[in-house]
Amino acid sequence: MSVLFSDDLPADNESLRRRIFQGEIFLLPAGAASLCLCDALLQIASDNILGEKQTVTAGNRQVVAAALRAAPGRSGEEGARAGHAIVKEALLAEPTFDELLLAVLDECGFERQEVLFDPLRMRISYDGGYKEEINRRSNSVHRDTWYANSQSQINFWMPLHDVSAADAFSFYLKNFASAVPNTSEQFDYDLWMKTTGWQSSMILSTFPTADADPRSLGERTSFSARAGQLLLFSASHLHQTNPNDSGLARYSVDFRIVHRADLASGLAAPNVDNLSQGDATRDYRKNSDDV
Ligand SMILES: [Fe+2]
Repeated sequence: MSVLFSDDLPADNESLRRRIFQGEIFLLPAGAASLCLCDALLQIASDNILGEKQTVTAGNRQVVAAALRAAPGRSGEEGARAGHAIVKEALLAEPTFDELLLAVLDECGFERQEVLFDPLRMRISYDGGYKEEINRRSNSVHRDTWYANSQSQINFWMPLHDVSAADAFSFYLKNFASAVPNTSEQFDYDLWMKTTGWQSSMILSTFPTADADPRSLGERTSFSARAGQLLLFSASHLHQTNPNDSGLARYSVDFRIVHRADLASGLAAPNVDNLSQGDATRDYRKNSDDV
């Protein structure tokens, strides 16, 4: 399946961005910086979810990831959720993690001082979690742009362990440049931040989602990936998490970026159906060297 995605990083960063805004998806090989980020995330997850004193290295990366994947079944989901909450706070608060993100951008050819970024978010998809009401929003069919994210936004996604196509998430590729009925007109960024915010676990009755039978949206395209590989795609792609019935939890990290030159010039993915209000980019971070 991953043959559908490009693995060849263009030398010119603007060419990469242009191709992404035309709908191309890049699945890049793991590099030194992405594996460093992967290990740092496995480390903080191990510390707080497994509660074990062990140092994550290339040699035990897979063993630690396997223990984490089995952890909710062994120690109970409540413990895992509490550990995950600590990890989420740390990713927002500790500058080390922003630096690891920026090193990944360097490795992918982005000029860090030209990029606005949203901090790392580590996701855990629990076995059967998609059946729970609390996860209804994160399991919906959506474009990230329906949440007032910029049409110039590029999403980065990385698994912390090897994932099969069943373990990852899916794109509805044929809808990249064609409109889909949706509820994005109900989304106002300012109101969202005042009442809910991204870190909230509130169950919402309304949120931006496709207002169509998923079977009418065409073929779902998923992919397999190795730990530390990076998926780069336009925030305007229609996508959805795959249901997890594997018996194991799965771990990934993602972050979003916008290049300042693209905001200024209007270089962006086509807006075919996004009616959300506001601008999430205003809260994105800058490289601290540039503040
Ligand atoms: Fe998304």
